[in-house]
Amino acid sequence: MTTINFTKQEMQTVQELLREDTRPVPPVLFEQSMTDLGTAEILPKVFFDKDYHDLEVEKLWKKVWQWACREEDIPEVGDHVVYDIADLSVLVVRSATNEIRAFYNACLHRGTQLRATSGKVQAFRCPFHGWTWKLDGTLAHIPCRWDFEHVDNDAFRLPELKVATWQGFVFINFDLNCEPLEVYLENIPEHFKHFPLENHFTAVHVAKVMPANWKVTLEAFMEAYHSVTTHPQILTFTGDANSQYDVYGRHNRMITPFAVQSPHLGIQLDQQALAEAIAKFGGGDPAMVQVPEGMTARAYAAQAARQRIQENLNIDCSALSDTEMIDAIQYFIFPNFMPWAGVGAPLQFRFRPNGNDPNSSIMDVLLLQPCRPEMRPPSAKAHWLTPEESWTNAPELGGLGRVFDQDTSNLRRIQQGLKTFGKRSITLGKYQESRIQHFHQILERQLAL
Ligand code: FES
Ligand SMILES: [Fe+2]
Repeated sequence: MTTINFTKQEMQTVQELLREDTRPVPPVLFEQSMTDLGTAEILPKVFFDKDYHDLEVEKLWKKVWQWACREEDIPEVGDHVVYDIADLSVLVVRSATNEIRAFYNACLHRGTQLRATSGKVQAFRCPFHGWTWKLDGTLAHIPCRWDFEHVDNDAFRLPELKVATWQGFVFINFDLNCEPLEVYLENIPEHFKHFPLENHFTAVHVAKVMPANWKVTLEAFMEAYHSVTTHPQILTFTGDANSQYDVYGRHNRMITPFAVQSPHLGIQLDQQALAEAIAKFGGGDPAMVQVPEGMTARAYAAQAARQRIQENLNIDCSALSDTEMIDAIQYFIFPNFMPWAGVGAPLQFRFRPNGNDPNSSIMDVLLLQPCRPEMRPPSAKAHWLTPEESWTNAPELGGLGRVFDQDTSNLRRIQQGLKTFGKRSITLGKYQESRIQHFHQILERQLAL
């Protein structure tokens, strides 16, 4: 592909596009937040060193709030999710109609994992000798109780973790002295007042073991800089280089506009061609696209998205802005969660270590669809792809499957290349890779390095 050179000043900005929106845009999208993060380089070993991983387990995963599941994953009393992080395992359970608890997933007798998989139970009964706990964690039964006179029921409650919910997401924290979730989230709840994800349900959930460290995988989704080389098929409808990057306290954001062409594209597309390109990517028939004279492809694509959601889900989006209908408004909540705002691209990403292997990770992709809050349907079952399987084997992801395959093939090579690096450290772009710089600064602070 031939690409052209241009400067940042020559490009249309996200802010300019937002000002052309056909509807009022949520004010938080007009905010810009970038500081000089410097150009510090990052040592490759943070991506494969076992000691670094162990440090992350102690100082990061055992200390931070992390997204474990969605509320609609556990709609009824007794429904539970097994949430694994590194080699720690947690039971997140709906213990009463309006109560969610989280327990260490291990029997207090001799340590057997209480539940191997998510599901529904009336009580947690250990498969080894049958010690049983109620859903609220109180000890219910010990076979041959006479042999355990030294066991006090109160002292043998299942140890709990902190639990809090936000926008339908259930978070857990191993650290009982942690700050409250709403404090940890900083300005994110304020921003998402405009994008109420509690009015959404998990329509799609696909997960896969990825061939790289969880940070390498995460960082592949933090910038649009790689699109021109890795995903050339999206340049006809993606303003990759136009993306806006914002950093906050410990979280950050990227806005990538769609239904505009990449500035890298050597040719100038008209509005009709832009609208056709984005329709095709979304699985639509480009022959059906007819952009009226004077209308932009963005306004047209947004209108098509409103119509699609009205027809498929009976949800009225007529007041929602074009940007919420079509753009990638991707937030990042430290350390590993990317909730997307808006309804056009309602993706949620999560990146976790795969057990204690620093060379692989687990990526979860959710598609949240809007619903009425009082009628949130139960979640779609997670579709686990094997590590070798193509993301396109999850047709529920549409055109994203091919995009993720392109990312996955990079990941394998990055993880390998980092180990044979002929240079001391990796180098980051100052603006387009600013979120990665920011992430590592926050991570190092967390690890007290
Ligand atoms: S290890 Fe659980 S009952 Fe014995
Ligand atoms: Fe990508």
